[in-house]
Amino acid sequence: DIMTIIAPSILSADFSRLGEEVRAVDEAGGDWIHLDVMDGHFVPNITFGPALVKALRPHSRKHFDVHLMIAPADPYLAAFADAGADTISVHVEAGPHIHRSLQTIRALGKRAGIALNPGTPATMVEPLLDMVDLVVCMTVNPGFGGQSFLPSALETVSRVRAMVAGRPIDIEVDGGITPATVGDAARAGANVFVAGSGVFSGGPEAYASNVSAIREGA
Ligand code: DX5
Ligand code: ZN
Repeated sequence: DIMTIIAPSILSADFSRLGEEVRAVDEAGGDWIHLDVMDGHFVPNITFGPALVKALRPHSRKHFDVHLMIAPADPYLAAFADAGADTISVHVEAGPHIHRSLQTIRALGKRAGIALNPGTPATMVEPLLDMVDLVVCMTVNPGFGGQSFLPSALETVSRVRAMVAGRPIDIEVDGGITPATVGDAARAGANVFVAGSGVFSGGPEAYASNVSAIREGA
């Protein structure tokens, strides 16, 4: 059966105290920790690399869900694996050799994810389904937290859910997930819900209720 997973994205955390923030969302009931890696090239923003993932690793034992928004990705896959990533997702748009990237991630002993921008057809992942453990359907254009959910991306989620059929593949939605949007994403077939601004708002006292509200809406 399919498990519902809430994955707080630290993109919306206080970057001056990231270790504490990771511990806080872990204790608040977040199931996975989502880490957004951006290179200023594949997306118009820059965040952090493997050294930060490694520095955060001792702060939580929860699943580290590393979302690479970088091109090329291949030269950095081993570094993210060594840093303690559990799942590593690469974008299907990030290069011509995505199949090789997925092979590399699995050869490193990690779960492999494939991410799709809102403008990319679901059929792009079809030849890759035996290579992946996670499909990330972007529900905003990647690059920034706090953007509005794109309802048009729900069609991609349902198409991916139909293609995945009985395979043990998680389907993740990423971007604009709040208690108001998570239900539609769940009904379209998603079971992993990334939330940045939806979790990290109202200060640390609010994280647990923010996580619960998203879980209840799913
Ligand atoms: C966007 C990132 C998301 C982001 C989501 O490029 O991939 O993970 O943190 O943030 P919210 O939940 O605020 O849309
Ligand atoms: Zn992300």
